[in-house]
Amino acid sequence: MPSTSDEAVIQQSFDASLILSLARDNDPDGFTHWTVFDNLQEGLDSGRWVAFIAFKSGLPIGAILLETEEEGRLWIDLLIVSKKHRGMHVGRSLVEHAVTYGMEHDHRVLFVDVDYDNTLALQFYLALGFTNAGIVTNYYSDGSGAVFLTRPLS
Ligand SMILES: CC(C)(COP(=O)(O)OP(=O)(O)OC[C@H]1O[C@@H](n2cnc3c(N)ncnc32)[C@H](O)[C@@H]1OP(=O)(O)O)[C@@H](O)C(=O)NCCC(=O)NCCS
Repeated sequence: MPSTSDEAVIQQSFDASLILSLARDNDPDGFTHWTVFDNLQEGLDSGRWVAFIAFKSGLPIGAILLETEEEGRLWIDLLIVSKKHRGMHVGRSLVEHAVTYGMEHDHRVLFVDVDYDNTLALQFYLALGFTNAGIVTNYYSDGSGAVFLTRPLS
């Protein structure tokens, strides 16, 4: 069943082009850091990736994309909230959906890598109970570094 938070309705999505257009339109700089998800549709169909989209008044305003990994790891590959709807707990609600999904599917830990310079996102994840697990330099394709954060799923 979809659930609501701050008037947003969150639903699982299998629509790769919608997820990618949300990311491209709302975080063009971040988008260039990410892997080009050429095979995203195939991955959503097979269950390798799982996505949730937040809708408000029927319009998509945010998305989270999770990669299911071996050994119980669940990665947040993409999290985006439209600029107009930030600060309204849409991002928090999308991450909580990821947590619920991970627990229901026996994943052990949620991981995310965040651009070292993305102070806002770091504050966001720390506020949601993630722990800084370390820094990797020269991580993204443009040479920038990443902070790794984790949140246990038990
Ligand atoms: C990061 C992002 C997803 C946050 O989404 P959001 O819906 O605006 O965040 P929320 O409203 O759910 O905020 C949850 C908590 O994060 C923290 N937070 C959010 N925005 C913040 C800001 N601008 N400054 C400081 N803390 C902030 C707060 O603790 C907040 O809780 P509170 O409102 O009860 O104090 C959004 O800013 C975004 O899409 N950024 C661009 C893409 C990106 O950087 N993605 C993450 C990289 S993986």
